[in-house]
Amino acid sequence: MTQDELKRLVGEAALDHVRPDSIIGVGTGSTVNCFIDALTRSKVRVEAAVSSSEATTRLLQTGGIRVIDLNQTGGLDVYIDGADEFDPHRRLIKGGGGALTREKIIAAGSSKFVCIADQSKQVKVLGAFPLPIEVIPLARSLVARKMAALGGQPIWREGFTTDNGNWILDIHNLDLVDPTGMEKTINELTGVVTCGIFALRPADLVLVATEHGIKQF
Ligand code: A5P
Repeated sequence: MTQDELKRLVGEAALDHVRPDSIIGVGTGSTVNCFIDALTRSKVRVEAAVSSSEATTRLLQTGGIRVIDLNQTGGLDVYIDGADEFDPHRRLIKGGGGALTREKIIAAGSSKFVCIADQSKQVKVLGAFPLPIEVIPLARSLVARKMAALGGQPIWREGFTTDNGNWILDIHNLDLVDPTGMEKTINELTGVVTCGIFALRPADLVLVATEHGIKQF
């Protein structure tokens, strides 16, 4: 199976976690796009969705799904999103698409976070994927220096602005053996909006598309 076929498979599998007529949280990325496609083609009807990015909002609305603000909904039953990496403890690196802050907010506001991914995203220890950090533009070089002091190699994602009007630093070669500790450390740096480690609030369930079908843990 190709990676695209695996993404379609897991996008389809995520439908089992959508309660009809509920309001769901929807993440960002090519795997989530497959979920949105499956949802709009299915008979499952949702009342509305809370979206983690402008790109996801456009896709949801094109599929006829109403998008509402998290401030209108209270807590959500379920949040469905992809990941750039996941470890055996369901901790994630996210933000390859730059939507990490809204993703983290919606994950925090949801009872169940279902992560959907193909097997290529599975790692024993997080950190091979460069860690995205959303920063206030004024703080870019300040945060980059702090991250270098923490042992990483920061690269500015030049030319990219997040939906919140901020910038992204991608941190290469950072030691993430303690993802929870590093998430706290980075999030406390002045000028950081949030980092792409999802360890304090990991996924509750990971659905993994493999050549042998969907595995979950
Ligand atoms: C978006 O900012 C990311 O967190 C995505 O969830 C992540 O990059 C996974 O994207 P793909 O499904 O495109 O690999």
